[in-house]
Amino acid sequence: MTKVLLITGGASGIGAETARIAATRGYSVAINYRTRDAEAKKVVAAVEAKGAKAVAIKADMAVEADIVRMFEETTKALGPITHLLNSAGISRQMRVDSYDAAMLASLFATNVTGLMLCCREAAKRMSTKHGGKGGAIVNVSSMAATLGGRTGSSAYAATKGAVDSFTRGFAREVADEGIRFNSLRPGMVLTEMTEGRLKDPDFKKGIEASIPMRRVGASREIADAALWLLSDEASFITGTMLDAAGGGYRI
Ligand SMILES: NC(=O)c1ccc[n+]([C@@H]2O[C@H](COP(=O)([O-])OP(=O)(O)OC[C@H]3O[C@@H](n4cnc5c(N)ncnc54)[C@H](OP(=O)(O)O)[C@@H]3O)[C@@H](O)[C@H]2O)c1
Repeated sequence: MTKVLLITGGASGIGAETARIAATRGYSVAINYRTRDAEAKKVVAAVEAKGAKAVAIKADMAVEADIVRMFEETTKALGPITHLLNSAGISRQMRVDSYDAAMLASLFATNVTGLMLCCREAAKRMSTKHGGKGGAIVNVSSMAATLGGRTGSSAYAATKGAVDSFTRGFAREVADEGIRFNSLRPGMVLTEMTEGRLKDPDFKKGIEASIPMRRVGASREIADAALWLLSDEASFITGTMLDAAGGGYRI
């Protein structure tokens, strides 16, 4: 069966790196993006250069109609979706006294509700109960879910905690329908999401000191872990959280 991997937030960071490596592991890849048209085209070109099929699909993971259309367009372009990586996510640095409802709604719309709707669409297509052939899904959560995040990240951490709880429950709902469902918790990784803050030498030093391995991670290290969880090598693993975080962090 052709392996078709849909990656949300696939035009940058962890999602883009996973797409590039997936191209060498027998996957056709659908790269979802929201604003990064040029970057999405570059990722498509990189995947195709490795001999794999690819398509870029513009869709906002905070909009249900976009999510449904993205699944339909992926299936039309590449065939039935067998694998899904939910990597789209946003982070907001904000202490509790600065919260407002709109900010919290936008954070949860992408990081939680959008991710859950993607899982609904994937399950409808993958589940043997609905005539599908099974599949595997990985949600990109965060180590922030474990300790509540670093200062200023509590709202973001709450969204990732929701992802982990959803992962545990959803995995059991679909475990006997051929779908494996896990979450991956990166620690601090150098990507577009963090590079602004990591440019500050004091911030970087503090982060490195808080991680047992004394360094931040690279996208490649997270992409490899995601692809392992998606692969048949992880065939008896579902409903679990894999930490890819250099040993975690202390606050
Ligand atoms: N980097 C880290 O240290 C770290 C640590 C733990 C967890 N994570 C998680 O890893 C995942 C990937 O992040 P990253 O580090 O690779 O950073 P990134 O390069 O900023 O990737 C996030 C991607 O998600 C996309 N995105 C955001 N909102 C979207 C929406 N509503 N619809 C569609 N796409 C959307 C962004 O595109 P636009 O810019 O166009 O919106 C961007 O391409 C996120 O879920 C993040 O929370 C990252």
